[in-house]
Amino acid sequence: MFTKQTIRDIDLKNKTVLLRADFNVPVQDGKIIDDYRIQQSLPTVKYLLDQNVRLIICSHLGRPKGKIDESLSLAPVAKRLQKLLGHPVRFVHDCVGDEVKKAADQLERGQILLLENVRFHSEEEADDAQFAKQLASLAEIYVNDSFAVDHHPAVSVTGIAKYLPAVSGLLLEKEMTTLTQVMEKPKRPLMAVIGGAKIADKLEVMTRFIDIADCVAVGGAMANTFLVANGVKVGESLYDKAEVAVAKDILKKAEREAAKRQFVFLVPHDVVVAEKIDKTAPTRLVELSSNVLADIEHYPQRVPAGSSHVQVNERILDIGPFSASLIAGAIQLTNTVVWSGTMGVTETPSLQGPIGPTAHGTQTIVDAMLGEFGHKPFSVVGGGDTVGYVQSRNLTDVFSHVSTGGSASLEVLAGHKLPGVEALLDKK
Ligand code: 3PG
Repeated sequence: MFTKQTIRDIDLKNKTVLLRADFNVPVQDGKIIDDYRIQQSLPTVKYLLDQNVRLIICSHLGRPKGKIDESLSLAPVAKRLQKLLGHPVRFVHDCVGDEVKKAADQLERGQILLLENVRFHSEEEADDAQFAKQLASLAEIYVNDSFAVDHHPAVSVTGIAKYLPAVSGLLLEKEMTTLTQVMEKPKRPLMAVIGGAKIADKLEVMTRFIDIADCVAVGGAMANTFLVANGVKVGESLYDKAEVAVAKDILKKAEREAAKRQFVFLVPHDVVVAEKIDKTAPTRLVELSSNVLADIEHYPQRVPAGSSHVQVNERILDIGPFSASLIAGAIQLTNTVVWSGTMGVTETPSLQGPIGPTAHGTQTIVDAMLGEFGHKPFSVVGGGDTVGYVQSRNLTDVFSHVSTGGSASLEVLAGHKLPGVEALLDKK
């Protein structure tokens, strides 16, 4: 349960509100490539406008490290927000100082003012008290709706809350409620599908899922490290030497869990390989001969060992069709699935269409999550890399919940508290 006060819990009518949003969206040559985070902030912005507040919004964009960098200006965000809302959004070229004070003082009820990137000031990430007071002096109430950055203490995330009544926006409430719910009270069976490059990024999440989920499947480059831990030769595949010992520990933990209760840990047992990452490079399917499944007792027999090994000049770029089908089948047996990390290289387009030659593993599990095989479990997508894939395929609306947070979502899934949330007022 979310225990913090939200904008629904306090009287906001006619007040001046400072909203911290996360408008850290990809911008190229002044153009916003993807506005998912802006769209997700709209319910909070609209609710605040309905309360007839004077609305001042702040955010960061990118990592300018305390210096002004015009390519990281929030000016394009002001325009996009205005378009999405159908309501004027003023913009001011700083977030503190005389010009800002004047613009804030001139703001009428029902008007919106977006401040320039807070990270243009080094004080933001240094959690400087003076800077916090300056920002706080602009408003009467602080609203945090910046879930994706709430794992980093900073002035606009935790600092302002020391000087103003601080409550949660609707997006932050939704993110926290959904992500906590799937970990604490999921509709079982619960499955986690974890991919991406490095085990280290997802180690805590994976460990927690082994404790609580009914099935955990791994894919992507991190699966290569598990394969190496199982003695499989992976040629030129990306894997992390330093993490092989960690992978061995995880496999042992998974085995112990499987001995205690009905639990399945799936590592790929067939893979798609090529000599290079290129849409014209021929791919080959390899059935790995060693026993790489920690426990397949409750799942179909693995296909007979056969074909060949990954050659020294080949690299693993996707899970194979048998492994993808096995994971898809497991997804069909679950009621809740949490997905973080693609199963292979998904960025290479194919000669024929949008799904590249090494994106079929990911596509198969996406189809399974989205009900293409009959059953549609509650599906939660977290972790920045995965969300990028989902957005590029225009699938954000079809999953049950696509988190706006990368690292922040992994923190919550791992069971950690977020400083930005902790700084808010508790529910009465
Ligand atoms: C994100 O994109 O994950 C958030 O906006 C946080 O950005 P940061 O990693 O630069 O703090």
